[in-house]
Amino acid sequence: MHQPVQRTLLIIKPDAVRRGLIGEILHRVEVDGFQVISMRMLRLTERQARRFYLAHRRKPFYDPLCKFMISGRCVLCVLEREGAIDSLRQLVGKTNPKDAAFGTIRHDYATDTRQNCVHASDSPESAVREVGFFFKPTALVRIKHGLRGIYRLPFVKR
Ligand code: CMP
Repeated sequence: MHQPVQRTLLIIKPDAVRRGLIGEILHRVEVDGFQVISMRMLRLTERQARRFYLAHRRKPFYDPLCKFMISGRCVLCVLEREGAIDSLRQLVGKTNPKDAAFGTIRHDYATDTRQNCVHASDSPESAVREVGFFFKPTALVRIKHGLRGIYRLPFVKR
């Protein structure tokens, strides 16, 4: 089924950055047909972490989550693809790695529900808010090559 092209936010969290998983995670994302539209590496301030996760402010895990998110640098990526939001959530897997499907990023790499390697926007509204939270519109530049053109050749050659 033909799905609309969407943008979504991927955060490679401090646990994954510390464990040297940036390349592995980006590889999985690119092979799955996402285009990296923009990327930043930064250590969130406490204010940024608390604002970003504001929807969870009444949950018991809010304070430890914010503390974890400021414990080291994150890699923030804006990704584009047809049906990007649902597709990325599938690739990432369920929040708790014990519930995540085999072959998802969290199944393969996450160690617990909090330190779960990645964050992915959960709806079109969240994606707009989360992308805008970290990126100015002028930073979101699309590469003109078709993704199929980029990815077909190496995989056909194998
Ligand atoms: P994320 O997809 O970034 O969205 C909210 C985050 O809160 C989630 O990933 C986890 O890192 C964390 N989280 C969600 N539920 C729990 C929980 N029950 N215990 C601890 N951390 C949680």
